Amino acid sequence: MTEHAPHVVLQHALAEHHLARLRAKETDSAAFQTDLHALSLLLAAECSRDLPTTPASIETPMQSMTVQRIAHRIGLVPILRAGLGMVQGFRELLPFAAVHHIGIRRDEATAAPIPYYDLRQDQSPPDIAIVLDPMLATAGSAICAIRMLQEWGVREIRMAAIIAAPEGLRAMAVNAPQVHVVTAALDERLDENCYICPGLGDAGDRLFGTT
Ligand code: PRP
Ligand code: URA
Repeated sequence: MTEHAPHVVLQHALAEHHLARLRAKETDSAAFQTDLHALSLLLAAECSRDLPTTPASIETPMQSMTVQRIAHRIGLVPILRAGLGMVQGFRELLPFAAVHHIGIRRDEATAAPIPYYDLRQDQSPPDIAIVLDPMLATAGSAICAIRMLQEWGVREIRMAAIIAAPEGLRAMAVNAPQVHVVTAALDERLDENCYICPGLGDAGDRLFGTT
């Protein structure tokens, strides 16, 4: 059996609390956005835990000292639409990061990813890209986004998801084994329509109230 891709599942009481609200079917679109934002803050902290830093000299009011700063160019890459709900939380913790949008939707019959908005390849790529998408189901969308980033020339790619399916992590291990996944939950399985169970339903529709 194929291994899962390298991943970390958040272990935090706040993650459990906000996930519980996000999953509940009676949670409305405004509350969904609030809980998605809170989870994105927690994921942003975990995802950026080991970002490379470089030393710099500063003066405190008391004396000089050497500090560590993030010097690499970081790019946040939300996958439209649902990934948009994670952008604000990540930008609060990484305000120096640029945001590069990718549009991908799943074919409703086959779950195959259909890209509809590509990266601006006339811009220079970030050193490290963090792909943002609440749902890693088959991982077709994430792998499609990762290929776009690799073609652009991004060398290091990370992935932040709210909920991952085992099937998605196995697909990542095969197709993007170098991408580290940080998720708030690893769920049980995909259903026959490739939706995550127990999951939270359709993240984009719940976020934007389009059900
Ligand atoms: C959802 C979700 C992911 C994708 C995950 O997007 O936000 O992008 O499905 O599924 P996968 O891992 O099997 O590719 P969707 O296609 O529903 O588009 P939306 O965000 O615009 O609703
Ligand atoms: N996309 C979603 O929004 N939810 C799922 O469970 C799977 C894919």
